[in-house]
Amino acid sequence: MNVFTGFIADYYDDLFSVSEDEYTFYKSFLAKNNHKHGCFSGVQQGRENGSLDTCSLEIGSGTGQLLIGYAREGFAVDGVDSSLPMVEQCTQKALNQGLNVTIYQQSMDSLDLPGRYHTIYLPSCIIQMAHNEATLRRVIRGVSRHLVPGGRVVISMLWPRNGILQKEARDADSREHTMCQHTSCDHSACEHRAGDPYRVLSKHDTVIEVYRSMGIKDDCVSCTYRFYSYKGGALHQQVTQRLQWRLYSPRMISNMLTEESLISHTWYKDYQRKAFDLDSCTQSVDGPRETVLLVVAQKALVE
Ligand SMILES: C[S@@+](CC[C@H](N)C(=O)[O-])C[C@H]1O[C@@H](n2cnc3c(N)ncnc32)[C@H](O)[C@@H]1O
Repeated sequence: MNVFTGFIADYYDDLFSVSEDEYTFYKSFLAKNNHKHGCFSGVQQGRENGSLDTCSLEIGSGTGQLLIGYAREGFAVDGVDSSLPMVEQCTQKALNQGLNVTIYQQSMDSLDLPGRYHTIYLPSCIIQMAHNEATLRRVIRGVSRHLVPGGRVVISMLWPRNGILQKEARDADSREHTMCQHTSCDHSACEHRAGDPYRVLSKHDTVIEVYRSMGIKDDCVSCTYRFYSYKGGALHQQVTQRLQWRLYSPRMISNMLTEESLISHTWYKDYQRKAFDLDSCTQSVDGPRETVLLVVAQKALVE
């Protein structure tokens, strides 16, 4: 079930924002691939030529914090999102800015779009919203099917805890892994705001207090938002919404990509453009927050 409805959808842009690094990271892949295939500049050039093989696709396009920016810069980017309120917000925002974007309301695990793309990107660790391996497989297979040969996918994911890497090392009998030494990230303690609201928002005559807590259990990171809405100073509504990301090991994702004809993997960390060597994982992650890992894979020319 998609939880990007209700208060989360209504206040999405107040609660979440895309960093400049994140924006620039994906853009560099759009620019590279689209330029190579002659799609960049001349918005929706593919469409104007009557081709359905357009340029880029954002999966989980939300309110369009990334997509609308790219469209404004002249990239031809379609979006997919399973939440109707998010699709409506994104479409309305684009219209308000005089942009013509196509956003499909579909779930990423049953993608069925009319065209194929040169670049598909999955930001905000949305791949980990596929909460089991069968669903994850369907997402990756659908992405592969929607890429042109040689096209690229960019996938973001939360950095897994040591335990997962250790298990992976135990499972891999022939190879010695050096463990990441990061042990201080007690996710159940971080970001917990018992007393102070995480945000106070107001809309029309309503004031909303938002409390947020994060936890990690059974290889799932959960983020719980509690919304208290007040009208005329009195409590009007109380709603709890929880987002969850399943932690998959990068090696497992990598294997699945290869099995679905998505090859030549390059890994990045925290939106830095310097490639990161997954096999020599000796770097520890500082600070209480998770790191974001990114993998870029290319659709094989021959399947
Ligand atoms: C964290 S938001 C990402 C927002 C967006 N990338 C942006 O820049 O504003 C995740 C989005 O993924 C969508 N989503 C969640 N599960 C999905 C699924 N199974 N298929 C498609 N979209 C999904 C949600 O509706 C939400 O809009």
